[in-house]
Amino acid sequence: MSGYTPICILPGEGIEVLDQTLLPHEERYLRLDTVAAVAEAIRSLRVRGAPLLGVTGAGGMAIAGEEQGAGPEALVEAAAELKATRPTAVDLGAMIDEALVAAEAAGPSERERQAALWGFAELALARQRERDAALARHGRELPGLEGAVLTHCNTGGLATGGEGTALAVIAEAWRAGRIERCYATETRPLLQGARLTMWELGALGIPGTLLPDTAAASLIASGQVSAVITGADRIAANGDGANKVGTYGLAAVAARHGVPFYLAAPLSTFDANTPSGEAIPIEFRGDGEVGGFGDDRWSPDGGGVYNPAFDVTPAELIAGIVCESGVLRPPYGPAIAALTAQNVDR
Ligand code: MRU
Repeated sequence: MSGYTPICILPGEGIEVLDQTLLPHEERYLRLDTVAAVAEAIRSLRVRGAPLLGVTGAGGMAIAGEEQGAGPEALVEAAAELKATRPTAVDLGAMIDEALVAAEAAGPSERERQAALWGFAELALARQRERDAALARHGRELPGLEGAVLTHCNTGGLATGGEGTALAVIAEAWRAGRIERCYATETRPLLQGARLTMWELGALGIPGTLLPDTAAASLIASGQVSAVITGADRIAANGDGANKVGTYGLAAVAARHGVPFYLAAPLSTFDANTPSGEAIPIEFRGDGEVGGFGDDRWSPDGGGVYNPAFDVTPAELIAGIVCESGVLRPPYGPAIAALTAQNVDR
């Protein structure tokens, strides 16, 4: 674990989250103790990153048990409200469904169901930490992970509650002396790379270089990066992977120049029920995030905005997918089917 944690579970009380919209300038924790507040924090990306959204969803269900009573109808209603916040990251819905199962399996009293929901939220966070550590160990020996690597968006501890996914692999490879530098894209429009990944690289002591998203293609073409590695928000049964918008372009350019492109994600991000990338729901976000940042506007009013939060990288462009069970190689379908069938606890 790094020196900060993006989420704390406070059984019986609520959750505390590090408000990621304020980073890197301010480290402020918010106490959330209503389902509406959790939903707002997720929608506005105060908490974000697929695995952390899963843990936050589990925490939100425990809060629902306190706030609205742990009866089945109230929980199902809260589950629907929380799931509707962000559709692409499969971890969110999956952890909420697991929380419902944990509540159903508990004793009949409200107290027992509430205790089960808090227990599950704590388990979800502890499990994520173990998964991140295993994933990072498997990823550090990936071919091409040497010299300098390129990443996109933010995939460190801020995105998971543990050590992270792609950034944890990069950190392990750096500790092993395999890589010397990490290039990080700014990640327009919300700047997760500029604000969060550069902050985490600094905390980890890894030399980081920030670049505009638009410079990534020429950086890859120049031969200065030996691999591209990102996280994922949902990996379909055939290995197509949704991740932060711009990932597909990086993978396509990497393939054009013979640079390996990897995804790093826990098994909770694999969705065996979604056959291919075409069926992955893509979140579209509001107009206000493009043509300006915060209250600062630089585009004239009145034009349209195209603002998908994610895109899908076809499996054929992915050289390997690192998860807590090891490194998957193409063809991904059979390996994903076998691993997700075994992974009873998502
Ligand atoms: O919109 P965000 O910031 O939640 O998007 C996050 C990403 O796209 C990450 O790459 C992904 O969730 C993997 S996180 C370990």
